[in-house]
Amino acid sequence: MLIDSHCHLDFPDFADELDAVVGRARAAGIGRMVTISTRIRRFEPLRRIAKRFDEVYCSIGTHPHHSAEEADIGLADILTPAQDAKVVAIGETGLDYFRNNSPRDAQERGFRMHIAAARETGLPLVIHARDADDDIARILEEESGKGAFPFVLHCFTGGPDLARRALALGGYISFTGILTFKASEALRAIAAGLPEDRILLETDAPYLAPGPYRGKRNEPAYVVETARVLAETRRVSPTAMAAQTTANFFRLFSKVPAV
Ligand code: NI
Repeated sequence: MLIDSHCHLDFPDFADELDAVVGRARAAGIGRMVTISTRIRRFEPLRRIAKRFDEVYCSIGTHPHHSAEEADIGLADILTPAQDAKVVAIGETGLDYFRNNSPRDAQERGFRMHIAAARETGLPLVIHARDADDDIARILEEESGKGAFPFVLHCFTGGPDLARRALALGGYISFTGILTFKASEALRAIAAGLPEDRILLETDAPYLAPGPYRGKRNEPAYVVETARVLAETRRVSPTAMAAQTTANFFRLFSKVPAV
């Protein structure tokens, strides 16, 4: 069994054929999917998707692109929906200094509030980090000092220093189709050296389709290809890689019932 630990099934890209997308994932052996919240104000349609399919779970949070737009959201707005049985993670949150769609101070305020929610609930924090390695690592270190919280650096594209500092705090690192791109040698070098119990796989669908699907709309079934490349990179069998990343998922996303 494989897991897609981060996709966005509520994006309009999937609106007309969600059953087919989930059906293809099922046929490809994707046993669980977590569809990730980007705006708390758009949580209700996301929750409905998670309710509709047994194997789909969701998170609650505001993406850093939208932290200015949802600056009025408070801790309770995360904690209350997080009690739902299908809500298994906090986020996605973090810092994006590549697009800077929200001012940096609004992003940081949102990031720290989501950390507080992860600490309070024990649910894993799903972190988006783009061109912000130093600030992400620094904030994670500062906040971990106030009390531990589980987290994953999703769609990892950072450098070795961020990976090392995240691992030191007990964090997990998750790879998308970017791992399969020809130019991603540096990323594959990091993936090759990670401890086996800290790695996750994801599509981040509808973007970043792996290898042969590049340029197409990405979907959870394609995580099989990223898993194949990760297995090759780490010189283990695809079966062993699948078993390991699946075990890692259930350890981190501990609210998802074991299969
Ligand atoms: Ni995402």
